Amino acid sequence: MCGIFGYVNYLVEKDRRVIIETLINGLSRLEYRGYDSAGFAIDGDKKNEVFAFKEVGKVAKLKKLVDESDLDLTKIFDSHCGIAHTRWATHGPPSRTNCHPHRSDPNWEFAIVHNGIITNYKELKTLLESKGFRFETETDTECIAKLAKYLYDQHPNLGFTELAKAVISELEGAYGLLIKSVHFPHEVIAARKGSPLVIGVKTQKRMKVDFVDVEYSDEGAPLPAETASQNVALKKSAVTEGGSFLSPNGLLGAADKSLLHRSQSRAFMTDDGMPMPTEFFLSSDPSAIVEHTKKVMYLEDDDIAHIHEGSLNIHRLKKADGSSNVRTIQTLELELQEIMKGKFDHFMQKEIYEQPESVVNTMRGRLDSVHKTVTLGGLRNYISTIRRCRRIIFIACGTSYHSCMAVRGVFEELTEIPIAVELASDFLDRQAPVFRDDTCVFVSQSGETADSLLALRYCLERGALTVGIVNVVGSSISLLTHCGVHVNAGPEIGVASTKAYTSQFVAMVMFALSLSEDRHSKQARHKEIMEGLGNISSQIQEILSQDQKIKKLCEDKFRNQKSLLILGRGSQYSTALEGALKIKEISYLHCEAVMSGELKHGVLALVDENLPIIMILTRDNLFKKSLNAYQQVVARSGKPIVICNNGDEEFSAGQAEKIEVPKTVDVLQGILNVIPLQLIAYWLAVMEGLNVDFPRNLAKSVTVE
Ligand code: F6R
Repeated sequence: MCGIFGYVNYLVEKDRRVIIETLINGLSRLEYRGYDSAGFAIDGDKKNEVFAFKEVGKVAKLKKLVDESDLDLTKIFDSHCGIAHTRWATHGPPSRTNCHPHRSDPNWEFAIVHNGIITNYKELKTLLESKGFRFETETDTECIAKLAKYLYDQHPNLGFTELAKAVISELEGAYGLLIKSVHFPHEVIAARKGSPLVIGVKTQKRMKVDFVDVEYSDEGAPLPAETASQNVALKKSAVTEGGSFLSPNGLLGAADKSLLHRSQSRAFMTDDGMPMPTEFFLSSDPSAIVEHTKKVMYLEDDDIAHIHEGSLNIHRLKKADGSSNVRTIQTLELELQEIMKGKFDHFMQKEIYEQPESVVNTMRGRLDSVHKTVTLGGLRNYISTIRRCRRIIFIACGTSYHSCMAVRGVFEELTEIPIAVELASDFLDRQAPVFRDDTCVFVSQSGETADSLLALRYCLERGALTVGIVNVVGSSISLLTHCGVHVNAGPEIGVASTKAYTSQFVAMVMFALSLSEDRHSKQARHKEIMEGLGNISSQIQEILSQDQKIKKLCEDKFRNQKSLLILGRGSQYSTALEGALKIKEISYLHCEAVMSGELKHGVLALVDENLPIIMILTRDNLFKKSLNAYQQVVARSGKPIVICNNGDEEFSAGQAEKIEVPKTVDVLQGILNVIPLQLIAYWLAVMEGLNVDFPRNLAKSVTVE
């Protein structure tokens, strides 16, 4: 939900063309996060001048706007700061005005790009309007830019960091944001709370780079006296602990000073102590950075990063609460080709085809098929506590929720611990009871989904043990949970989740196996499941070889239909749910998942010879019951398309249209059964000429409630 990208070059000569290309290229990589409008702000031709470009639609349209402008692209900058944004609208419809960057005033004294939601923007807006500010957009973000100008005008001696702290302490809600200002040329402020931000650092060759940890301390740094006395009241409310920088009486009190914790900076220097030419890339996601540098630092909540004169400073808004005092510059393991489409037409297609490999990556180094053991390093110290917990609650949204549903049975069977599966939003709406002896498992591809994150905080507050099953390394959920498993599916860029689902499934089955490793009664079952996992990759490959057959089936059976039902029972109900979601979200065809046992309780009324129906009828202990539903459908002249095991004689040729899948252990069958449904969704969208990777109204990472 919105992607932000920034580029700062320090003592590295770049012409404007390169700066703009860097920004636009960064936005294109982040486009999956939001694609209804895009924009950027760069330095103008004169001192204190800012040029901003904004366009409705995808990043390509923004590029066209620049190409058609008469901007001097040859102007050279030794040092420069540009910020950019691709939007998924929350406040105000997509329009050039609502598109980021937002400005403090017509001269762009402060320019801001923001991902997240400022929940108190109405109060801030009212207040700033009373101070004479005129708002020009319907967004929540604009108040940040205007607040920065208001505070700067009141306190012109404040440094960029102190000013940013003052602004940020007034904000409620979630943000990943970048601030650029004509008052602090070539500098940028990056801050995060609840929305991801990562900083890439690239120094020139032949320079000795000292990539030591970036540290910060929590020692209070008093504000200059004149600043304190100049302070003006913004809020009528009393200052709460760790609250507003601006006290009600306009003076800085002790509580306010506690907000100002000085950090330690990391300056990049040459061997002889000279400033090192450096480039910084700031992004919502490392995929936009990897083509420039692999050296990255992930910001944590309440971090404020200040980049100026080639140095990177990390400040904290609040005293560290036991979290790490170190920000390490890490080396990305991501390869550029992982985020390119390669020979495929769409990212979704590529990601469907990657599954034989991605499931292996999930198991790599963890599943020892010779000794029949599972080692999940991220859980090692917690397994015995989890074994003793009173229940395990899986909490997730969308596809990730479906993967939790899919493994509920195997957890119940192997661990014999009560299992609950919750949609994060509903769980919070109900304020469901959570106890200290609960284990709460948060499953998320992005690790940034707002509903899941809020539910995680809710469970942490109640003292539960929290586990993250997350794909994106360094994401909020992976940082905030006590322990967890990275699913290692690799970057998933298509908005419709595919390989993350199958990898989550595999990761959670391994979790269930390791939880029950000490149970003798389960040993035979363990062996069977592990053997099944060993074959799963080649079986997925086998299904993918039916791609063209499935495409043809879509053309013959589903084209121009208004609705489609998918029926499944037991754990295959989650497969049906996941297939129906895929079909809805990218082909826009209404598709409903039905628990087969429920058919006769109402949905059967829809069935006739015209309604397209897919029935999941692979062999498991519920097969006979599933067959009842099949017979009920056929008896009403329905013509279901059956997903069954290879060569199942129950569905002999000519009798039923079928998609055959290999047989695996019952608890793993869903990993295979979902593949034809992913392909059906894909081909339906392609046939309709829809934008597979960027379905309307959606975004990959949903960072709003
Ligand atoms: C569907 C899809 C969404 C996500 C959901 C949760 O294809 O991608 O339903 O699964 O928004 O996202 P994560 O897994 O990132 O928490």
